[in-house]
Amino acid sequence: MLTIVTLISGSGSNLLSLLKACDNPLYPAKVLAVGSDKDATGLVHAEQYGIPTFVVEPEKFDSKHQWAEVLAANITHLKPDLIVLAGFMKILPESFTDRFSPKIINLHPSLLPSFPGAHAVRDALQSGEKVTGCSIHVVDAGVDTGPVIRSRQVDILADDDQGSLHERIKIQEQAMLVEVVRDIAEGKINLEDFDGNR
Ligand code: GAR
Repeated sequence: MLTIVTLISGSGSNLLSLLKACDNPLYPAKVLAVGSDKDATGLVHAEQYGIPTFVVEPEKFDSKHQWAEVLAANITHLKPDLIVLAGFMKILPESFTDRFSPKIINLHPSLLPSFPGAHAVRDALQSGEKVTGCSIHVVDAGVDTGPVIRSRQVDILADDDQGSLHERIKIQEQAMLVEVVRDIAEGKINLEDFDGNR
C-alpha cells in the first residue's frame, strides 16, 4: 500500500478524486494526512473521509526556510512513500524539495514546459493556442521544471473563459492523478527514473 501526504491550497477537487479512489479497498494507495498553507476550503474533504489535516501558514514564520522546516516536520513523522502537491500554490524552498525529491509530485494545469507558474490557465488562454492540458511532474528546485511523468491534452474552445477551461482541465487532472498514483503504487512508474536532481 503506497502511503501519501497531500498538500493543497484551494478547493481540493483533485484531493477529493484521490480520496474517492483510496476509499476503494482494491486501490493500492492510502492518504495519511492532508496539509495546507492556509485554511483551504478543500480541507473539508479530508475531514469528511476522517483523514487528519494540518495547516502551516508562512505568515507565522520569520523566513520561508523556517516555514518549510515545520511543514516538512509535519510530513516526515508520518513516513509517507509519496507527497502529492494537488493545487498547493506556495513555492517550496530547495531545502524542502531536495529532502523529498523524487518522491514528491505536482499537478499543473498546462502541458509543461509550456505555461509554468501560478497562472497557467490564463496564460494558455491568452496565448492563442488551440490546445493546452495538464501535467504531473516530479518536483525539483525550480518552479514547475521537474521531469514530466504524464500529461493529457485539453482543447481550448473558441468561447472558453478561464473558468470553463479550468473546469475541463480539472476533469482530466482528477482522472490522471488517480491513474498516476496507481501506477506508482504498482511499480509501473518508478520515480527514481524521473529524478530531476541527478
Ligand atoms: C489544479 O488545476 C492544479 O493543477 C492547480 O491548481 C488547481 C487546484 O484545483 N495547480 C497549480 O496551478 C500549481 N501551479 P483543486 O484545488 O480543485 O484540486
